[in-house]
Amino acid sequence: MIVEQNVPLQAHNSFGIVAKARELVRVRGEEDVRALLADPTRAGAPKFVLGGGSNIVLTGDVKPLVLKVEIEGVRVVEDGARATIIEAGAGVNWHAFVTWTLDHGFPGLENLALIPGSVGASPVQNVGAYGVELQDRFEALDAIDLATGRIFTLGAGQCAFGYRDSVFKHVPAKEGDLGLAGRALILRVRFRLPKPWKPVLGYLDLSRKRAESGVDAPSARQVYDWVCAIRQNKLPDPRVLGNAGSFFKNPTVTPEQCHDIIAREPNIVHYPMPDGSVKLAAGWLIDACGWKGKSVGKAGVYEKQALVLVNRGGATGGEVVTLARAIQTSVYERFGIRLEPEPVVV
Ligand code: EPU
Repeated sequence: MIVEQNVPLQAHNSFGIVAKARELVRVRGEEDVRALLADPTRAGAPKFVLGGGSNIVLTGDVKPLVLKVEIEGVRVVEDGARATIIEAGAGVNWHAFVTWTLDHGFPGLENLALIPGSVGASPVQNVGAYGVELQDRFEALDAIDLATGRIFTLGAGQCAFGYRDSVFKHVPAKEGDLGLAGRALILRVRFRLPKPWKPVLGYLDLSRKRAESGVDAPSARQVYDWVCAIRQNKLPDPRVLGNAGSFFKNPTVTPEQCHDIIAREPNIVHYPMPDGSVKLAAGWLIDACGWKGKSVGKAGVYEKQALVLVNRGGATGGEVVTLARAIQTSVYERFGIRLEPEPVVV
């Protein structure tokens, strides 16, 4: 185990915010975590698990010990008649993994192409795009308890997946509560890719692509190419313009609330959910408040998609947070809706 001091984190967070880790340990396998827990000076120290850094806002140097997950490896666990089970190390880049599965003839993750971040972070926020969520392709994961070094396996039910949510985002309020935030490090994730493969094309942008191309029965590679093209067209590439994807979750309201809002705002973009609630497009709400292209210092609202906050070069985490709060206030004042941020403010 090598402990590095004062490590720059700019390249390790997709917002590209300048900050340092006081101390950082690279975790390449469970033995690194166990070595850390055997070190009496560090075993009990507060720890911060850093995956691909695509869902965090750094507001200063990180004081807890940073565990940078760099566990590699992809393997086919089982290629059965009804599904293929594939396992990937938590440190594998998510998009590289999706591409690997298609290159090796295992379709099923194509709708999730180009999502920034790592395999290990994907269950934490149950990543989702274009009609597929991680939980639809999830089999199980192995994690290590950061207090005891014990390795445990969780199936989908135990991960308590929700919209951009899981057990890994919750801090237990009292003994016995579910919640693994800060308590576990995900080592490996296994995915279940069902057979026979069926494309998921219900999302409006994808059905448009299908109609435009005239390809009625697209291959998984075709869907992957469409998803990449859609994302490249409306989401900024974090290597060019720092960002953390959607900054807010799409809020859900009751049908009554939605009815009231529609009466005032007939054009509001909304989607009925299976449980009777209605999801509103947060991007539309922010856009309607006139935020597109606006800035606080070097933190700004992306011109092509108001749900994405960007670093125009040299933004601080404080500027991003100030901008986010101003957006929340104006959306609340106009629509009475509280927007909930997606990324974790560190
Ligand atoms: N819209 C506007 N103005 C804007 C932005 C959006 O009017 O500035 C409208 C769009 O015209 C559209 C609607 O809002 O009618 C929804 O926009 P879009 O289809 O781009 O999807 P989204 O709701 O903004 C969600 C996810 C994305 C995911 C896409 C596709 C959330 C918070 N975001 O975005 O996820 O890629 O759907 O499935 O659920 C992410 O989480 O980082 C992310 C990018």
